[in-house]
Amino acid sequence: MSVVVARQLEKTYVSGDITVNAIQGVEFTIEPASFVSFIGPSGSGKSTLLNMIGCLDPPTRGTLQVAGREITNLSRREAALFRGENIGFVFQDFNLIPVLSVFENVEYPLLMVQNWTKEKRKKRVFDLLDAVGMTDQANKRPNQISGGQKQRVAVARALVTNAKLVLADEPTANLDRETANRIIDLMKQMRDDFQTTFVFSTHDPRIVKNVEITFTLEDGKFSSTNDNQGGGNA
Ligand SMILES: Nc1ncnc2c1ncn2[C@@H]1O[C@H](COP(=O)(O)OP(=O)(O)OP(=O)(O)O)[C@@H](O)[C@H]1O
Ligand SMILES: [Mg+2]
Repeated sequence: MSVVVARQLEKTYVSGDITVNAIQGVEFTIEPASFVSFIGPSGSGKSTLLNMIGCLDPPTRGTLQVAGREITNLSRREAALFRGENIGFVFQDFNLIPVLSVFENVEYPLLMVQNWTKEKRKKRVFDLLDAVGMTDQANKRPNQISGGQKQRVAVARALVTNAKLVLADEPTANLDRETANRIIDLMKQMRDDFQTTFVFSTHDPRIVKNVEITFTLEDGKFSSTNDNQGGGNA
């Protein structure tokens, strides 16, 4: 089963007399455990598309299935529940909670969901911290670690509830190139280890070569689709 299926998807923003056709009839399918990026210039519609997939903002027209569910007409409450159960988010500015430790930041989404015991949460959090190489920093606060390390913690937090789909809007925008590429490699590793699907946006051409599948947006439409899978990084 595909993780995301979009058909004739459109998003129109209307404010006063101004109408913006931000997404204009795009169609795509994203398969499980794939590693996908939307690329394109500023204003081309990347965030709009990710926000629709993440059930943060509904489409204007068309159909959109995420994890087998038609999400076009979900109520706000249904959308919030669906997000909690199915989708992890990695934000551009990391969005870590400053007063919580690294451990507590990763644990946080688990407090919202099932009634897990403290011990079970602890094991799960350390599994993820281990996977992103941050076990040694578990007791530090976000202001005591580097930008790349913050992003690692954000990736661990996005994965801790076992979300099968992780969305990241410009996850590397605030990182230098080397750190950005390391985060991309880390997300690929997580994909391999947990079979998570990663979908992110970037307008950074330097990291595009490390992505397997790219959809290029221009004025709300796809101008090209590229599948680098198996083709290496050349
Ligand atoms: N809430 C909104 N209300 C009205 N117009 C919006 C809104 N959000 C985005 N837009 C418009 O929709 C278009 C697509 O915006 P979007 O944020 O999706 O672009 P983007 O590709 O993410 O750009 P960037 O690379 O700068 O983040 C733009 O013309 C933008 O001005
Ligand atoms: Mg954007």
